[in-house]
Amino acid sequence: MTVPAAQQLQQLREAAAYIQHHSHGFQPDTGIILGTGLGGLVHEVQVQHSLSYADIPHFPLSTVESHAGRLILGQLGGRQVAVLQGRFHYYEGYTMQQVVFPVRVLKLLGIGQLLVSNAAGGLHPDFALSDLMLIEDHINLQPTNPLVGPNLDELGPRFPDMFAPYDPTLLARAEAAAQQLGFADRVQRGVYASLPGPMLESPAEYRYLRTIGADAVGMSTVPEVIAARHMELPVLAVSVITDLASPGNLKPVNIQHILAAAAEAEPRLTALIKAVLTGR
Ligand code: HPA
Repeated sequence: MTVPAAQQLQQLREAAAYIQHHSHGFQPDTGIILGTGLGGLVHEVQVQHSLSYADIPHFPLSTVESHAGRLILGQLGGRQVAVLQGRFHYYEGYTMQQVVFPVRVLKLLGIGQLLVSNAAGGLHPDFALSDLMLIEDHINLQPTNPLVGPNLDELGPRFPDMFAPYDPTLLARAEAAAQQLGFADRVQRGVYASLPGPMLESPAEYRYLRTIGADAVGMSTVPEVIAARHMELPVLAVSVITDLASPGNLKPVNIQHILAAAAEAEPRLTALIKAVLTGR
């Protein structure tokens, strides 16, 4: 169902006003979205405020067990961060406008950059389990996107450019950080394909995705990135390779395997994000 632009904006503003009120005017400069099994970064945040999604007006509620559903406000790497612990997926039955609602609210709160993480299947034959992949481009294979419907002119243009969805400066900073931290060999670069899920792909679908130029595949991120770029927010997005889907490596996976591989990579992801934040 299409919600009129004025009503969408009103809801975004009410959510932002609630957060501002309950955080005594906290001003985040960086938004962070944590993906499946990657919530550990919040333990590094000097938490000033922690708000339950359930209490924020118009915020969708997390239905995935591995996602907590809290907005954490505090300091990390010398930055004022707003961490979305728990994200929304199209497969849960939300509209794309609901999926990107939190990102738009963070923009209204004043963030100037967005960092995103996710769990993804690795398609590139050289990728190893628990590698990090810096996303340098994407292929949107979701059935729709958050900009379909009335344009929110106050947020961005009707036809936003997608020339560089992932910020080259942030990408370079992440690569430099990986070098400094000594795990550059575990940090890849590549193209992320976003599919609706919730089932993983069939062998033929994995082969197809590789053929069309994808290095990793997952069920999130691209909707939020599209909404962020609509608002001209610079984005850094990192996939954690939680299963290998290249021919020869493919085997049955389950969510426990995915969470275990994410847990293995999490310290590196956390260190990388902290270093990127500190690097300015
Ligand atoms: N496919 C889609 N989504 C995923 C995968 C995958 O192989 N692994 C983690 N999320």
